[in-house]
Amino acid sequence: MQLALSTWPEVEDYLRISDGLIVPIGSVEQHGPNGLIGTDHLDAEFIARGVGDSIGAAVAPTIAYGMSQHHLAFAGSATLRPSTLMLVVRDIVESFALHGFRKFFFINGHGGNVATVTAAFDELYAARSLGDRAAPVRCRMTFWSAGPRSKAIADDLYPGVNGAHATAAEVSLAQYYQQAHIKHAQMTPKLAPPSTPFFEATDYRTRFADGRIASDPSLSSPEHGKLLFDAAVIDMAEAYQAFLAY
Ligand code: NI
Repeated sequence: MQLALSTWPEVEDYLRISDGLIVPIGSVEQHGPNGLIGTDHLDAEFIARGVGDSIGAAVAPTIAYGMSQHHLAFAGSATLRPSTLMLVVRDIVESFALHGFRKFFFINGHGGNVATVTAAFDELYAARSLGDRAAPVRCRMTFWSAGPRSKAIADDLYPGVNGAHATAAEVSLAQYYQQAHIKHAQMTPKLAPPSTPFFEATDYRTRFADGRIASDPSLSSPEHGKLLFDAAVIDMAEAYQAFLAY
């Protein structure tokens, strides 16, 4: 059930049977020579909708922008500051909590969001622990690709070369649902430099010249994307239901 395509009476009906909400979150940032700028939020949204369709869970509109300051030296990338993203997460959760949603399951597509969104969850809990009388909420965030089935497929298809940014798996998933936008590009070197610490945007670009980290997305294909989609939807449906039962 997509919230954006529902009416308020339909949302009220849903809340009589569930207080869970899936929130896709990603980024708007470069994904190497053949990856789409929207990869992280489109991937997260695609998996979240797959889960919503398979088990009838409500799926909120996607938080498309994320914490991407380190990608800003590449055209088409945009960031929210950590402080901005924390407020975005807080206001969205508090809004839906007013209506009875209590359990917020964020399906994430972008590693740069983790520290900030986790801190935003702690702000929500801290406000309540400090005496705010708002209803309790529980939040969890997981990568769409973190489940055992999709991890096994990525390990099998891209042993040692899936990478850390512009991964072969995330590019494959995007190629599956955006087949009209599959890009072909030379990867030089074929395998991107290994994952090492980085700082601001110019430093990142100096270290990772074409934007990729440790990946070879020339291996990506829409057929791989379908395998990953089917696996990740089952993984995430299982993780969501475990979270509701926790
Ligand atoms: Ni990504």
